[in-house]
Amino acid sequence: GDNLLLSGKRAVVTAGPTHEPIDPVRYIANRSSGRQGFEVAAALSRLGADVTLVAGPCAQETPAGVTRVDVETAREMQAAVDAALPADIAVCVAAVADWHVKNGGAQKLKKSKDGTPSFEFGENPDILKGLSGLKKGRPALVVGFAAETENVVEHATEKRVRKGCDLIVANDVSAQTGIMGGEYNEIHLISAAGAESWPKMEKSAVADKLALKIAEVLKG
Ligand code: C5P
Repeated sequence: GDNLLLSGKRAVVTAGPTHEPIDPVRYIANRSSGRQGFEVAAALSRLGADVTLVAGPCAQETPAGVTRVDVETAREMQAAVDAALPADIAVCVAAVADWHVKNGGAQKLKKSKDGTPSFEFGENPDILKGLSGLKKGRPALVVGFAAETENVVEHATEKRVRKGCDLIVANDVSAQTGIMGGEYNEIHLISAAGAESWPKMEKSAVADKLALKIAEVLKG
């Protein structure tokens, strides 16, 4: 529709894990399911935003009305995000690998008398930090996620400042919470004004509430 809360706004959302290849058949990955990020893309779209979803390898269905760009590595994710700019809103939900393998194999690595391989790692781009620090064309609202396993609010508050983003959605992903890969999330929303804690709810409900919050902040 034309008169929804986010009509006329462009959003880019990252979601899922990244895969960092070791050789043509092996990679380093993480346990992100992509679920929360896909829900955020869907929720922004329901509010009328024009959404580009940059997705790492995951089994989620593309939400209705959302433009999906599939990527594998962090560096590809960065390039796809850049290509989706300009945007009014950026929400970085992806669990981006911090490192890539610098000396992987162009061909499948073989067991050999040389013993086990040693890998060298290079740093990946920090997509959230890069977006937050853009001198020209910074999205009006940049939102990050923080997966923590202890002192969640304290760590996420520091992270918001370090990354330079406007909002951080922080959650406790300790194994016993069942949040990673699960259906529910329990989050703290961190802004310059402080932290607000939301009750445990479905990831789709977190996404809807976040999308409303985003619309409210953009308006104010
Ligand atoms: O750096 P850390 O993983 O603790 O911060 C998490 C937040 O930063 C998430 O919003 C994630 O999507 C984003 N991030 C990113 N690019 C990276 C690492 C994290 O966009 N290379």
